[in-house]
Order: sequence, then structure tokens, then C-alpha cells
Amino acid sequence: MKQQRILLIIGGGIAAYKCLDLVRRLRDEGACVRAVMTRAATEFVTPLSVAGLTNERVFTDLFDLNDEHEIGHIRLSREADLIIVAPATADLIAKMAGGHADDLASTVLMATDKPVLAAPAMNPRMWLNPATQRNVVALKGDGIRFVGPNTGEMAERDEAGPGRLAEVPEIMAAARAILGEGGVPHVTRLRSTRPLAGRHVLVTSGPTHEPIDPVRYIANRSSGRQGHAVAAAAARMGARVTLVSGPVALTDPPGTSVVRVETAEEMLAAVERSLPADVAVFAAAVADWRTEAAPGNKLKKTGEKHALNLVENPDILATIGKSSERRPPLVIGFAAETRDVVAYAAKKRRAKGADWIVANDVSANTGVLGGASNTVHLVTEDGVEDWPTMAKEDVAERLMLRAAEFLRRSTAAAE
Ligand code: C5P
Repeated sequence: MKQQRILLIIGGGIAAYKCLDLVRRLRDEGACVRAVMTRAATEFVTPLSVAGLTNERVFTDLFDLNDEHEIGHIRLSREADLIIVAPATADLIAKMAGGHADDLASTVLMATDKPVLAAPAMNPRMWLNPATQRNVVALKGDGIRFVGPNTGEMAERDEAGPGRLAEVPEIMAAARAILGEGGVPHVTRLRSTRPLAGRHVLVTSGPTHEPIDPVRYIANRSSGRQGHAVAAAAARMGARVTLVSGPVALTDPPGTSVVRVETAEEMLAAVERSLPADVAVFAAAVADWRTEAAPGNKLKKTGEKHALNLVENPDILATIGKSSERRPPLVIGFAAETRDVVAYAAKKRRAKGADWIVANDVSANTGVLGGASNTVHLVTEDGVEDWPTMAKEDVAERLMLRAAEFLRRSTAAAE
């Protein structure tokens, strides 16, 4: 992040103290950091400690700007490569979504033409409140990027759920992705662009459950986060989205039409019913096997060994990828491997008739399965692109921007 100028807007919440570590880490990587604090933020950390770490004066409210020697809010917002809002409180998010400009933080955010990354932190009920969720959807539609919140224990006793500030390394990874380090081009801001308008994007997500008997099933650790993020990104870009999802504990991505299934066979049938599509993304972790015949009654212990008779499930990606009829113009698969990630993915691309494979390493130490971020390689006919580690939402957004570009080119070529 050498020479990158970060404007950090610190909101008023218990997590504000974590910003001190964020500033330190940003500066360690060579970024120049300026900070704006809301009035409430100064109740949690002192401007003096923030100034000590940024080595710059800290801006606290509009009255600072009356002095002609002071820097104006327009300059503050323009003299940055990226604005990070952390913690983005429910109030700050509401102000951003509503277009308010009644203090320095909100005025800077209204005046900026730079990318904005928000790291929300609040009580889980405030995060899940429909008003906050509405505001977040609106802001994502405006091109504001989000990292977190994470799920876990809150500072208040007996409170747990989504609302914890993303960890500092996660915020750093999201910032890096936006700033385009490691060869990533600047992420195109989505504000008022809907590059997938008029397109139908079909996404599979989550695990499948294969019954052993009426109460037991075979499952896997897929959370559905990556597939759901792809569906959400496509919807934000204006696509009509059909999300065929196995059992997950996630809320439906806004603006998508969700078809819930349990087994691989049900997933294949739902996918076939949902065609035609312009893009199909197979992000589901489909069980490779199902029991040959699940009994109608619960299996009982007999004191004996019990063998499960497993038969292979249909490969949904391969079925669609290799079909000549109704094959979407762009078929994308995922490949989770624990070694030789790219080599296996390239093989899988050909074997399954996919155009692109998004390959990732899911070894136990990577924390990818069920986690928030992902390090992927995009394997296409033209070769392999290594993408830096980024939030699953950013992988999704980048992938859908690429898909939009692919469709735009093929439409132009056909005309
Ligand atoms: O073979 P493997 O499971 O590693 O391939 C992963 C890719 O294939 C993913 O895109 C996954 O969604 C898809 N797949 C599928 N149906 C299966 C197995 C995998 O669509 N039965």
C-alpha cells in the first residue's frame, strides 16, 4: 500500500479502539492515513491517540473547517485513494444511505468521488434490523463496498450474532483488493452501472443433503457464502438471478429468486427447469454420492456393522457444461482442492465442459471453508490468473464483472 492515501472515518462504537491497530497496520504497509472522527467516536477513543498513530492532525467536526488555514471537506475527501469507514455504525450507515451531510464524516462521504469501504460493527439486532439491511442493500447498489460484519460474541454480555467488526487483516485485504495491489485493477465502482441488466444468471450454492433414512443425512461443510455472494453481486449488477440453494443458514440475497433444494438430484432438476440462462455459476458443494435407497423408516441399531450402499450423484456442472441444447454461453465452475489446485482445476475445466473454473485451496489451515475470505485462481481457456486473497463478496463481484465483460464482448462480436 506504499504511498496510498487512506482517509479513515471512525464511527462511534465500542469497536472504535480497533481502529488504532488498523492505522498502525496501514502505516506499516506504507500507506498515509488521515482520520476523521465522528463526535460519538471521540467518546470511545481520543483524537490524541489517533493523531499519535497517524502522525497527522485528526479532523473531528465541520467547525474545524472555519479556519482558512484548515483543509476543506472537499479536499479531505478528494485527497484520498480510498475512504475506509470503521466502525460503520448503524447511524453512520443510515446517514450514508440517506445522503445526510450534517457533520464532517457524513459531509466527506457525500462529497467524495473515491471508493468507499465500510466495515460495519454494531449490536446483532441493530445489524439485522430491516432498516439497516435496507440501507446496506442501497449502499451496495451505489457501489459502496463492505467488509464484515463477522459473527461472534459481542462486547455486551450474553449478546452474540452478526455485528462484530471485521478483523484488521480482513479490512486490510478488502482495502488492498480495492486499491488494486498485486496486479488487481481498480475495482470498477458500481454506482449507477448495471452491467448485467437484461441477463439471466443461474447460481447453485450450498451443500446438498443426501438422506440415509428419514432423520439422517450425508452432508459437507459448505456454508454457501461464496455462491450466495455471487448471486448477490449479479443481482446488484442488474441481472435476473435464480439461486438454486441447498440447505444453508444464510438469508436470501436481496433481489434474487431462490429455489430451495436438498439433494443433488433435486438440484439438477431445479437447474434444468431454470434454463435458459446467460451465465451459470456452479458454486454448490454437491455430494458426490447418495445412498442407493434410503429406507422409509429410521434405521435401528442391531449390534452389527452397517454398510451404506452409495451410488454416484449426477454431476450438475458436467451435465449442463456438456449439453448441446440450452447450454448457457458462459458456464463457470468452482474447484476446491487441497493440493495441485491449478492443475486439477484445468483438468476439471475440460472434463466438465466449463468455460471458467474458479479454483481454490481448501486445506484445513486456509480457513476457506465456512470462512469470510478466499484466495482463488481463475482458470480459463487462455490460462491462469492468480487473484490476491479477498473477501468472498469481492471474489463474487470481480467474477460477475468479468462475466458481464465476457457477455458484452460476445454480444458485440455477434452483431
Ligand atoms: O468434481 P468437483 O466436485 O471438485 O467439481 C466441483 C465443481 O463441480 C463445482 O463447480 C461444483 O458445483 C460442480 N459439481 C456439480 N455436481 C456434482 C459435483 C460437482 O455441479 N455432482
